[in-house]
Amino acid sequence: MRAVAVHKTGDTPELMELPVPRPTPGEVLVRLTAASLNPIDAGIAEGMLPMPQVFPLVLGVDGAGEVVAAGEAVRGPAPGDLVHGQFLRAPLGNGTFADYAVVTEHPDSGALQRVPDGMPADIAAALPTAGMTALGALEAIGLRAGQSVLIVGATGGVGAFAVQLATALGAEVIATARPGADRWIRRLGAARTVDYTAGDTAEQVRKTHPDGIDAFLDLTRDTARFGDYAALVRDGGAATSVTFTAPPELVASERIAVSNFQMADKPDLLARITAEAASGRITVPVQRTITLDETPGVLARSAAGGARGKTTVRV
Ligand SMILES: NC(=O)c1ccc[n+]([C@@H]2O[C@H](COP(=O)([O-])OP(=O)(O)OC[C@H]3O[C@@H](n4cnc5c(N)ncnc54)[C@H](OP(=O)(O)O)[C@@H]3O)[C@@H](O)[C@H]2O)c1
Repeated sequence: MRAVAVHKTGDTPELMELPVPRPTPGEVLVRLTAASLNPIDAGIAEGMLPMPQVFPLVLGVDGAGEVVAAGEAVRGPAPGDLVHGQFLRAPLGNGTFADYAVVTEHPDSGALQRVPDGMPADIAAALPTAGMTALGALEAIGLRAGQSVLIVGATGGVGAFAVQLATALGAEVIATARPGADRWIRRLGAARTVDYTAGDTAEQVRKTHPDGIDAFLDLTRDTARFGDYAALVRDGGAATSVTFTAPPELVASERIAVSNFQMADKPDLLARITAEAASGRITVPVQRTITLDETPGVLARSAAGGARGKTTVRV
């Protein structure tokens, strides 16, 4: 089968011909039709996830496709079922940038479920990691209707989901966006955008919201700025980082509730974010679709930033 993989940690991902993986008891084999990119793909190639690995290590955590075989003791998905999810399993190395991947039926770290009737494969593949993170992180800050929230890093995969979910809740969304991405992010629901390349973001928000904001969601790796943004949050408000940028002294703060978000109960989050998309309450922000052949090059360039919504892979 074709697969985008690395021979060892730190290698540049390349398209390879590899054997089709075999499902062990409790696993299913999926013939993929679509996958989607996430920043964690590059992290896995660099060995950043503290999980056992097998090499060649096939990359890709999000995918959608058809179950073609089930190992012993599989009770749920059956051959012929269309499924999607976050294909994280130990050992890492049977990812979704491939013709086939194996996934556990009851994953301890991923999530797999049937694709809702009529949902296209690329949409199903774009939902899992970014959608679950956006939903979980907004719940972590307890955002409610009528509140204001600053979303920093709003133009990426997680951000494009978070902007829509927060807007659907009835919150006022202030989203960071470079020029060129601002109109798109306002179409997704942001009430206001801040150009983070044109001066201090916190200062710009303070001008429009002199009494502060209710919540802050950090989707960037800009550790140095977390405190500046958290300072905008009114007493009793909340802030969370999905990238562990919240420093311990702020996590201990009694003025506002600060956390470093860690995803829990992924099957529940996947079911609920998929229901949001299936109902049309949010759109799945696919901005670009590439082929498996193009994937190594796009992964290599992703370190330079510039992600807009989700990029999906047609397998
Ligand atoms: N904790 C978890 O469970 C979890 C789960 C999923 C993702 N994550 C993490 O969450 C982060 C976001 O994920 P993603 O999928 O949305 O990534 P992404 O698609 O790569 O998007 C990141 C976005 O942030 C923007 N950005 C970068 N630096 C910025 C800054 N200083 N100010 C404002 N915007 C900035 C980027 O735009 P430009 O490049 O144009 O600046 C890009 O649009 C990643 O670091 C990812 O690893 C964590």
